Formats: sequence, structure tokens, C-alpha cells
Amino acid sequence: MLSTVLVFVSTLMAAAVALDNGLMRTPPMGWLAWERFRCDIDCEHDPKNCISENLFTDMADRLSEDGWRELGYVYVNIDDCWASMQRDQHGRLQPDPKRFPGGIRRLSRYMHNRGLKLGIYGDMGTHTCGGYPGTPLSKIEIDAQTFSDWEVDMLKFDGCYSNATEQAQGYPQMSKALNATGRPIAYSCSWPAYQGGLPPKVNYSQLAEICNLWRNYGDIQDSWDSVLNIVDWFFDNQEVLIAVAGPGRWNDPDMLIIGDFGLSMDQSRTQMALWAIMAAPLFMSNDLRTISGGARSILQNKMAVRINQDPLGLQGRRILKEESGIEVFWRPLSNDASALVFFSRRTDMPYRYRTSLSKLNYTAGSYEVHDVFSERSVTLKDSTGFVVSVNPTGVVMWYVSAPVKPNRLQEFFKDARLRGAARGDLANVIPPVFL
Ligand code: GLA
Repeated sequence: MLSTVLVFVSTLMAAAVALDNGLMRTPPMGWLAWERFRCDIDCEHDPKNCISENLFTDMADRLSEDGWRELGYVYVNIDDCWASMQRDQHGRLQPDPKRFPGGIRRLSRYMHNRGLKLGIYGDMGTHTCGGYPGTPLSKIEIDAQTFSDWEVDMLKFDGCYSNATEQAQGYPQMSKALNATGRPIAYSCSWPAYQGGLPPKVNYSQLAEICNLWRNYGDIQDSWDSVLNIVDWFFDNQEVLIAVAGPGRWNDPDMLIIGDFGLSMDQSRTQMALWAIMAAPLFMSNDLRTISGGARSILQNKMAVRINQDPLGLQGRRILKEESGIEVFWRPLSNDASALVFFSRRTDMPYRYRTSLSKLNYTAGSYEVHDVFSERSVTLKDSTGFVVSVNPTGVVMWYVSAPVKPNRLQEFFKDARLRGAARGDLANVIPPVFL
């Protein structure tokens, strides 16, 4: 009997280890080369923008010197087009010697010395999407070992030039191979994106067991159309997607293009707000050397980042789709707080949307409401009607505190008197006056 119990317990423990490498308990944040810098390998004519070690050290310098790292943006991720067309004499992948003369190991050391992490890109087919050497089934172990030897912290494993049968073998095999190196390497799987992103073709429970994040859908481009298309797909399929997300296992709607060329400031706030609602990875793909102050302040908005990084890790949902073109999104957060986003699909003028918290399922009295982008706060009673003015293709985003119970206030006064608290203390805690 005892031995049966022991076998059971050890099986459980083995399962727990295999299923969870302990990484990415909140959505990963950082920078990823692809959307902004693509496969620019022309270092002779475009030295500042080509895929080379300098691009990654430049971005690392910006992340560590311009306030990004402290907010959590710590990954610096190489995407396609880094490799030499030939493997070395031991059959290992190697970086292009001209563009990465110091090698990947030196680059990972550069990141680690600055409190950052390095990500790399591979593809479980004969070639990467850009035509560079892939990692077919026979090469999975050796490539996992090479990434570990280079002290890389994350692998994005793409799926070009492989078929469904190979993917079903290769993605789990790479997960095992990474685990077997003993180095914690976060694992991003593009597998579902190649299988239409939905069950029954995609088995999300299996994915959550073998990957830390996964691309469900097509590539983001530098345009509002592309953002909207991604948003529509993710929220149209929210029932499937919400169920699988959580600490260590995230849906990935692709990179943030805030700071590039395709989005207005309002649309940039929309991408930030909805990626936070979705508990999405926040990988910026932009040029941190020349980013505008406006884009930077959106990406560095503390409250938006805090909402994205909420430790409960529950993915939010769309709760309303109004005929007026206003949509309302909601995400439950820790400490009984939540986030609300009012989004306008309209293209005419700011729309005055009238509602109340009780219409949005808040029925426990009064709530403190912090506007994420205007940084103002008010206390709102659930039944009080209010109007939010939402710009075309823009958002209003709120962090809503736990309900402020009337007796909590009274208790607070009692406590404060007992503690002999100074009047100044109270000002910080008592919710601001009613509207
Ligand atoms: C695929 C991926 C992109 C990018 C490119 C690189 O299209 O989805 O994110 O990695 O390949 O070639």
C-alpha cells in the first residue's frame, strides 16, 4: 500500500517537473527583432539596422539605460536570419561570422551582465521561414544543447518547412531536449499558428504542458488593420483561448508595434491596453534608439504593465459589443481588482459612451477607478451613470479596485484612531471624493 502511494506521489512529482519549467509566471516582456528589422542582412549599406550583434547590444543598452529593464522588459530576442548557411564541422548551428563575429555566447554574456536575457530563434523544419538552416527532427537534441551551451534563455521555435506530422513529433521533442540540458530555457512554440489555432487540430492542453507561450495566429505587420485583425481573432475565439492561459503558459498575439510607423497614438494605446487585457507577452519590435517620447510613455505606462503582469495570470475577455461600435473588455486581477477597457471601432469622432458599473457586472457598492492613461482617479458607485469619451480607434482603460465597502471605511477610521495615525496618512487611503 505504502509503495503504491509512493509510486503515485513520485509520478505526480515527475509530472509536475515535466510540465512546468518554472519560467514565465507572468507574461514575458522584452524586445524582439522581427517585425521592425526583418531579414535585413545588408550590413555594408545599412549597418545600423541589419541583423548583427550590434543591433542586439544597441537594444540592450537602451533597455538597461532608458528605464525599460526596471519595468520588466528584460528579454532581447534574436529572430530569423542570424545563422550561417552552414553548420560547423561538428554539425552545430553557428551564427553568421561576419554579422556576429563575437558569437552568441558573448552576446548572452552581454545581456546577463546587464540583468537582461537573450532569446534565439529556430525552426523545426528543413529551413527557417527566411531560408536559413532549420532544425529537422534529427537535429533537435544537438541544437538544444548548442543553445544551452551558449547560455540562451529563450527559444522561439518556428514551423516553416515542416508538416503536421513532423510538428506533432518535433515540438514535444524540443521541449524535452531543452529540459534535458538542465538550463531553464523558456520555450515559445509557433505550432498552433501552423494548424489554424483552434481545436480539434490544436491540442491546447498538450501545448500548455510543453511550451511557455505559443503563437496562435498570423504575423503582425506595421499597420492598424493588422492589429485589428489580430484583436478580432483573439476575442472571437476567447472562450477557447482564455481556458488555456495562466502562469507559465500564455497565448501570444505577436509583437507590440508601438513606436513604429503604422499606429497613431490612440491606436498605440489600444494595442497596449488590449495586450494587457489578454495577458499577452509584451515583446516590442521597434527601434528603441529613436522611439518617440509618446510611444515610450505608452509602453512604459506603469499601470498598464502592472495589469499585464498581474500574478493571477487570468486572460481577460470582451464582455460587450455595442451597436455603436463600442466594445468593453474586462480582466479579473488579484486582490479583487479588475481592469476595464472601453474601445471604439468608430472612425468619426470621440464617442460619449454612457453606462454604469452595475451595467458592467460590478454590483458590490463603490469602487476606486484609476484611469490608466490620464492617471486620474475617482470613486464610483455601481449605480451611478457616467460617460466615457472614447476616441476613434482608441481606448479608455481603467484599473478598478476591490469594492470599497462602507464599513471598511468606518473600520479604517477606528483603526487609524487606535494607531494614532496622523491626518496625512488618511489622505492617501481614503478614496477621492465622489464625482
Ligand atoms: C514567421 C514567424 C515570424 C518571424 C518569421 C521569420 O513568419 O511567424 O514571427 O519569426 O517567420 O522568418
